[in-house]
Amino acid sequence: MAGVTNVAFRTLCRELEQDRVGTVSGLYVCEMVTARALVGRHPVTMHMTTFSAAESPRSLQLYTVDPATTYAAVKMVADEGLADHVDMNFGCPVPKVTRRGGGAALPFKRRLFGQIVGAAVAATAGTDIPVTVKFRIGIDDDHHTHLDAGRIAESEGAAAVALHARTAAQRYSGAADWGQIAQLKQHVSTIPVLGNGDIFEANDALTMMAVTGCDGVVIGRGCLGRPWLFAELSAAFTGSPPPTPPSLGEVANIIRRHGELLAAHFGEDKGMRDIRKHIAWYLRGFPAGSELRRALALVTTLEELDTALNKLDASVPFPTAAGGPRGRQGSPARVALPEGWLVDRDDCTVPAGADIMHSGG
Ligand SMILES: Cc1cc2nc3c(=O)[nH]c(=O)nc-3n(C[C@H](O)[C@H](O)[C@H](O)COP(=O)(O)O)c2cc1C
Repeated sequence: MAGVTNVAFRTLCRELEQDRVGTVSGLYVCEMVTARALVGRHPVTMHMTTFSAAESPRSLQLYTVDPATTYAAVKMVADEGLADHVDMNFGCPVPKVTRRGGGAALPFKRRLFGQIVGAAVAATAGTDIPVTVKFRIGIDDDHHTHLDAGRIAESEGAAAVALHARTAAQRYSGAADWGQIAQLKQHVSTIPVLGNGDIFEANDALTMMAVTGCDGVVIGRGCLGRPWLFAELSAAFTGSPPPTPPSLGEVANIIRRHGELLAAHFGEDKGMRDIRKHIAWYLRGFPAGSELRRALALVTTLEELDTALNKLDASVPFPTAAGGPRGRQGSPARVALPEGWLVDRDDCTVPAGADIMHSGG
C-alpha cells in the first residue's frame, strides 16, 4: 500500500509474525512504483524499492500502462536482482489516473492488458520470478472486467491473480462483493486466485476463503495500525491458538519500533512526520486523551515520541470495539475515463500520459 508498506512497515510486520507465531509466512509487498520511474532510476523510486537484508521474498509492485516500459522495468528487476516477485496493480480508482486510461480503467482494454502482462512474464524468462496481477471487478456495474482479466492473466503466464472485490466506481466504499471472488475462482482454474476486500480480522480471511473458495487473501486497510494482523492470520491458517491482542503498553512498544524503523529509512525528521498518521490508526479505540493524542500527532523526534508514549496507560487491554475500516473509505463516484474509452475493448493504443505516480488500488 502506497505510503504504508515501505521497508519499515514490512520489517515490523515480519518481526511481529516471527515473535508471535515463530515463522514468517506472509508475502509482504513493497509500495507500488511506476515502471517508468523505475526504468528512469528516479531516486525517490529507487529508495521506495529498499528491502531489508533479511527480507525474503522481496516483493515489488509495479504500476504500468504500456508493454514496452513494463518489459524494460521487469527486465531491469530480473537482470539486477532487485526483487524476487513482481506484482502488477490495475486497481487504482483515482480520477487523475483513470481519466488517462490507467489503473482500474486499463483492464477494459483487454488486448492491451494482455500485452502488458505478457511483457512482464516475458521479461522474467529464465528466472524464477513469478509475476502476479491485481485488479478490481471492473470500471462500474455496467463494465465488469475481472473475469476477462483473470483469464487473460492466466493465459499470459501470470502465477496468480488477486481481485479487489469492488468496482472502480465504488472506490473504497461499501462492502466488497465477495461473490465476484467466487465467480473469478470458477473462471480461473490453473493459477491461484486471491481475494481482497474487507478483511479486518483473521476470521474474515477464513470466512472469505470458505465462502468464495479462493486460494489466499490480500490484506489492505486491515493492517493499518494493526501490523500484528499477519501473525493472527498465520495462526488462523494453521489452526493455532490466536496470539493475545496487544495491550496499550505493547502497542506503544510497537509504535516506538515502527518509529525507529521509519527514522532509519527516511531520517528522523521525515520518519516522525510519517509515523503521525500511523499513530492515529494504532490508537483507534484506546483511551488516550485528546491532549496526549495531540502531542503524538505533532512529534518531531524519537525522544518526543518516547516521552509521549510513556504517558499512555500500559495496562489498558486491547479494545474489543476497534475493528472495521481505517484509512480510505470515501463514497462511490462516476469513473472519469478518456474520451471514447468504452468504444473499442480491443484497441491496443497505449493511453497517453497515464504513466503517472499515484497511490491506490
Ligand atoms: C492508503 C492505501 C494505499 C493503497 N495503495 C495500494 C497500492 O499501492 N497498491 C495496491 O495494489 N493497492 C493499494 N491499496 C488498495 C488495497 O491494497 C486494497 O486493495 C483495498 O484497500 C481493498 O482492501 P480492504 O477493503 O481490505 O482495504 C491501497 C489502499 C489504501 C487504503
